[in-house]
Amino acid sequence: MTGPARPAVLFVCLGNICRSPLAEAAFRRAAQQAALDVLVDSAGTGDWHVGKPPDLRAQATARAHGIEIGQYRARQIKPEDFARFSHILALDRQNLADIRLIAPQRVKSEIALLLDMVAGREGQSVADPYFGDEAGFVETWADVTAAAAALVERFRSAISGQD
Ligand code: 4NP
Repeated sequence: MTGPARPAVLFVCLGNICRSPLAEAAFRRAAQQAALDVLVDSAGTGDWHVGKPPDLRAQATARAHGIEIGQYRARQIKPEDFARFSHILALDRQNLADIRLIAPQRVKSEIALLLDMVAGREGQSVADPYFGDEAGFVETWADVTAAAAALVERFRSAISGQD
């Protein structure tokens, strides 16, 4: 029997320096802890921060949870991503609209809001912490870890449903 293709998840926010790197970090760790084989990356809809490491506040937030993300580099979402990733998850509703605008017509990837994965949070955006203070990053971390746990559960049940 051939199993499902390895899940490939792309997290997308605006700048790829605050929210989506934290979503990437949280999901990488959750997947690793669950021994789930997944491809994970993040990108921004905008290009202002391309090539830059995550915002220092995002780095500090990840580090506070034992994860180093200083090596991540921002990039912009590109057409090939729609062929490469099975799941493209937008951090907020504007990101979702922007992703849909550039998606090829016959895209196979599932394109959704990140918080659609979390029961009771469907349709909600992860608030943009960029112009706020540290508290915003604490909230971002709570949101992305909840989504990471829900995503792991989803992939695990998809795999066990194959038996
Ligand atoms: P992110 O946050 O989309 O979570 O990476 C932002 C980063 C940069 C800007 C806005 C949001 N900006 O306006 O430069």
